Amino acid sequence: MSIAGKDIFDVDLLTPEEIKQIFEMAKEFKEVLKRPIKKVPALRGKTVCTLFFEPSTRTRMSFEVAAKRLNADVVNFSASTSSLKKGESFKDTVKTLDAMGVDLYVIRHSEPGSPMMLKRYTDAVVINAGDGIRAHPTQAILDGYTMWERFGTLKGLNVTIVGDILHSRVARSNAKLLKMMGANVTFCGPKTMIPLGAENYGVRISHDVRKAVKDADVVMGLRMQLERQSGGFFSSLDEYNEFYGITPEIMRFASIGAIFMHPGPINRGVEVITEVADSKISQVEDQVTNGVAVRMAILYLTLGGENYDNT
Ligand code: CP
Repeated sequence: MSIAGKDIFDVDLLTPEEIKQIFEMAKEFKEVLKRPIKKVPALRGKTVCTLFFEPSTRTRMSFEVAAKRLNADVVNFSASTSSLKKGESFKDTVKTLDAMGVDLYVIRHSEPGSPMMLKRYTDAVVINAGDGIRAHPTQAILDGYTMWERFGTLKGLNVTIVGDILHSRVARSNAKLLKMMGANVTFCGPKTMIPLGAENYGVRISHDVRKAVKDADVVMGLRMQLERQSGGFFSSLDEYNEFYGITPEIMRFASIGAIFMHPGPINRGVEVITEVADSKISQVEDQVTNGVAVRMAILYLTLGGENYDNT
């Protein structure tokens, strides 16, 4: 089993065994991140290029840190200061970067399918860092890893995802990965924010947050994606918070030992209140730490690594 040379457009292009292989490798790399010198020469001589056409803090920085921890060279492409502004096409831009010896691209774009479009112009590995509302595979893998690390398995885990599911690539990729790994998933939000055909993901759907959270092992909050909304999905952020905001009272419906997760960025007082976001049950910062280890594993494995000698 090897994912060498494989593009990561979404999680359903990976098998459960390959996802488990990424988890195991991330566990190894997490140990590296705890050392005084958090660096290994696993990708020395490789070049990673990040292409972010949408804002990002976690994903872009996390890929950059992950690549640098593996000793790869990293170049960050900025659309606003590039020759795209002088009319150069996307194809010619990619051909130019390819000619500089890029081995792997990490792309985020508002257009669903943009990673596949990039792949038409390059033989380098392409990793999707979020394409519109379609997919965010590395977020789902790091979320799955965080649950696996905490509970030892995803099989039989009850995971409730609450919020703006309609506009969420995180919810879509998470539902696919979690179902593939044997978890039970519930989508919860106002009717206007659950996509048509959501049942096709094999998830339970609920509009009542108390019922949705009952017996959950994991409650995942999602941000209102206002930048993707044209309005009319809910009356006000305050009203949304009143009905769907995650509070300590809502978390009491969950299982004993349940955790709160959120991919970030968080809008406090909207989808979650500070008392939960900053509580001991919150995994938000662990998710970020795990994101670096998981992305190290993804970069390493897709660029041809197999069993890394971590000694
Ligand atoms: N979770 C996530 O994708 O965050 P960023 O938008 O900051 O990358």
